[in-house]
Amino acid sequence: MRLAIYPGTFDPPTRGHLDILDRACKLFDRLIVAIAENPQKAPFFSAKERLNLLQALTREMEKVEVEILKGLVANYAQRKGAVAIIRGMRAVSDFEYEFQMALANRHLNPQVETVFLMPSENYTFLNSTLVKNIAELGGELNPFVPPLVAELIHKKLKGG
Ligand code: PNS
Repeated sequence: MRLAIYPGTFDPPTRGHLDILDRACKLFDRLIVAIAENPQKAPFFSAKERLNLLQALTREMEKVEVEILKGLVANYAQRKGAVAIIRGMRAVSDFEYEFQMALANRHLNPQVETVFLMPSENYTFLNSTLVKNIAELGGELNPFVPPLVAELIHKKLKGG
């Protein structure tokens, strides 16, 4: 049973995240999407809201579970018995940060490999910050996020 952790902030989850998750499902027996609370990033959605969203979005994905990540991802991966940490790599601009994080995680937990997956080229420009900017300025969100996420972003922006 090969388990991988897919950690991230997922604020909000995008079609790019789901694309990576689909690809990871083909490589591993089980996946845990691990949501970092990341209070320093002042998230748009609370960790609980992101948990509910990702659980709804992955309901049909039998291999996938969703949890809130407490502490270091390296320690979490060890506790869970994971063999890999999944990260999406969109463009060269992601490389420096991902490289540092992968090497730091390797120092912290040499048993776990970071596996980088490339999303579909449709999503290489996409990130959660862009989605929030588009939403705040009234742009169409459906190309970037699933309808449920678009709905909840609009609701929250209206103060709901
Ligand atoms: O989606 P993001 O914001 O790029 O994800 C960053 C994340 C959550 C993967 C990173 O901040 C993380 O791993 N946080 C958990 C705490 C941790 O392990 N930090 C050390 C990483 S080397």
